[in-house]
Amino acid sequence: MNATASQEEMKPLLKVENLLKSYTNRTLTGHREEVRALHGVSFSLLQGTTLALVGESGSGKSTLALCLACLEKPNSGDIWFEGTDVVKLEEEKRRTIRRQIQLIFQDPANSFNPGWTVLEILTEPLQLQRNLSCDEMRLRAHLLLEQVGLSAELGEKLSSELSGGQRQRLAIARALTLEPKLLILDEALSALDCSVQAQIVNLLLELQSSLGMAYLFISHDLAMAAYLADEIAVMSRGEIVEQGASVKILKQPQTKVTRELLAAVPRINFSPREASKA
Ligand SMILES: Nc1ncnc2c1ncn2[C@@H]1O[C@H](COP(=O)(O)OP(=O)(O)O)[C@@H](O)[C@H]1O
Ligand SMILES: [Mg+2]
Repeated sequence: MNATASQEEMKPLLKVENLLKSYTNRTLTGHREEVRALHGVSFSLLQGTTLALVGESGSGKSTLALCLACLEKPNSGDIWFEGTDVVKLEEEKRRTIRRQIQLIFQDPANSFNPGWTVLEILTEPLQLQRNLSCDEMRLRAHLLLEQVGLSAELGEKLSSELSGGQRQRLAIARALTLEPKLLILDEALSALDCSVQAQIVNLLLELQSSLGMAYLFISHDLAMAAYLADEIAVMSRGEIVEQGASVKILKQPQTKVTRELLAAVPRINFSPREASKA
C-alpha cells in the first residue's frame, strides 16, 4: 500500500465535534425544564470500521443517532461527513448525504408499510434511482434478499408475516438499497433472542467486509459491542466518558459507568474481536 492510499484510508468518514442538543420539557407543575441530551460530544469514525456506542438508558445515544441521520438538528457543534459539515448544509444537499447514512431501530415494523410485500418494501427506495427498469429493480431486490440471507420466496410476504430476526434482516436489506457508507444500528438487535442476535452480528461482519460500510453500533450490551466493534465509546449523561479499543475497554475499564455496564452483562456471549481472531 502506498503512502497516499493509506492516508486516504485514514481520513475519517465521520467527524463529530462538540455536539450539543437540548430539549425543553414541561414538568408536571407546568415549568419549563431543559434536558441536555448531548453535552459536547466529539468522536471520529474511519471508513469501513465500527464504533460501538454504549451507555445507560437516557444517556443520549438515540439523540446522537438522530442528529447524525439528519432527523434532529443539534443546537451547536459540527458533523463532518466526508469533509462536508452536514449541520450547516442547505436542505437539498443534506438530502443527498442523508441517503448515505442509514438508521436501523430496535423494531423496524413501524417503519414498514404494513400493506406492502417484502419486494415492494425493497423496490420503493430503488425508485429514487430513476434509470432502473421494473425488472432491474426486482432483480436488485432479490440480490439484496440473498445478501442478507433471506429466501426469495419471502418476497411476496407481508413484513408482519416475518419473524423478528427476518424483519431485522429486511431492515438491513432496505438500508443497503441506497448503498450507504454509514449504517447506524440503534439497539437494532436488543429485542432478538441470543441465537438470532449472533446470526445477525455475523451477517453485519460479513457485509462490512464485502461492502466496506462503517457502523455506529448502539447497544447497552458491552459484550456484543466488543465483539462487533473496533472501538467502544461509553456515554453517560450526554457525554462520552471513555473511549478506546474494544478489548481495552472490556479488560481495563477506567470509569464507574463502564464497570457498571460490564457488571450488567449477564454472561459473555461474545468474546472481543481481537480475542476471537487469535
Ligand atoms: N424528543 C424529546 N423530547 C424531550 N426530551 C427528549 C427527547 N428525546 C430524548 N429526550 C431526553 O434526552 C435524554 C437522552 O435521551 P436518548 O437520546 O433517548 O437516550 P438513550 O437513547 O441513551 O436512552 C433523556 O433524558 C430523554 O428523556
Ligand atoms: Mg435509545
